[in-house]
Amino acid sequence: MKAVEIKNNIYWVGAIDWAVRDFHGYMTPHGTTYNNYLIMDDDITLLDTVKYDFADTTIKNIQSIVDPARISNVIINHIENDHATSLGDIMKLAPRANIYITEKGRKGLERFFDLSGWNIKTVKTGDTLRIGKRTLLFIETPMLHWPDSMMTYIKEEKILISQDAFGQHIASAVRFDDEFATCQSMAELEDAVIDYYANILMPFGQLIRTKISEVQKLGLDIDMIAPDHGIIWRNNPNKVLRMYLDMAGGKTHLGVSIIYDTMWRSTEKMTSPIMQGIKDEGVQCKVIKLRATPMSVAIKEFWNSRGCLIGTPTLNNIMYPTVAEFLTHLRGLRPKDRMAGAFGSYGWGGGAVKEAYEELKRIGLELYEPGLEILYRPSLQDESVCYNFGREFAKRVKTYHEKF
Ligand code: FEO
Repeated sequence: MKAVEIKNNIYWVGAIDWAVRDFHGYMTPHGTTYNNYLIMDDDITLLDTVKYDFADTTIKNIQSIVDPARISNVIINHIENDHATSLGDIMKLAPRANIYITEKGRKGLERFFDLSGWNIKTVKTGDTLRIGKRTLLFIETPMLHWPDSMMTYIKEEKILISQDAFGQHIASAVRFDDEFATCQSMAELEDAVIDYYANILMPFGQLIRTKISEVQKLGLDIDMIAPDHGIIWRNNPNKVLRMYLDMAGGKTHLGVSIIYDTMWRSTEKMTSPIMQGIKDEGVQCKVIKLRATPMSVAIKEFWNSRGCLIGTPTLNNIMYPTVAEFLTHLRGLRPKDRMAGAFGSYGWGGGAVKEAYEELKRIGLELYEPGLEILYRPSLQDESVCYNFGREFAKRVKTYHEKF
């Protein structure tokens, strides 16, 4: 796709990755984009690069506007591979450009490139760079989501170049929120924001609140948020800001996700009466089988619900491996403000439900106890026990939800 002018003389010069389905282990069924931006001003400035496979694409897009040799500044907001690994190719074409980056970014970048021939200038929050008619303001955002991360605000245009934050893994022929809402739907866009937040930014909720309030204290008007992935927010940037504040503040749906796996379908048979009990308590419920679902989708569904029930059969006295994998993944994301419990079938010794609770406790979730274990296969009477388990869990989730 050719370059797109996002505001007067400011261009998207990125690349669309229609085919990526495994983004460092995160399933991306809708592909993604690597967004970077070119400002045509007295000092021509490139904000971010793209993943190495797409260096030729961004270079072609830049060349459609200007000879890259005329680029004066390259801003590196984030050094992760999907944004910075084309820098070497860009610098071959723009060897005299200054690179603006945070100190932690510089330290990281030297693990990827020989910086000795490049003119690197480190910046911190509040530093500005006048490039002609426009002024760039740098805002460090360490751990959102890498130590090097920062955002760049274009003062005169009121555009926040937000790197990963506010992005989504969506490959689309359109670039803006209003266009996407027309050709696809706002619901799909919102879903992609939640998916991205849940899988990448979940651990950093408190930091997100602090950083957004810092930006608000700086009194920055924001007309447009241009992230490094997906759709650009030009029609309603406040929408995604609000979504982030809500998610970081613990808001989610009053619902329960049942996330399970099964060997001989006994644990699976338990999910149906549990779900019925939850529904009869007036709480929404989704049932997700781990072996049939990408991990990132299970994580999103967990995040989208106030309560989660983990279903695991016992295998060799411990949790079923896919369930253990899910919980390990979840522990790394440090979720908060969710209630959890566990259930499952066992053959002789049991042990999986106990182990699941140990892991849920380690994660720091609000526990619903005791869990439920069924010997071999749920009988009709067991199904009624399962129903009551689901119903009681949903009652507790409703009460817990009132806190938020
Ligand atoms: Fe899109 Fe943290 O890289």
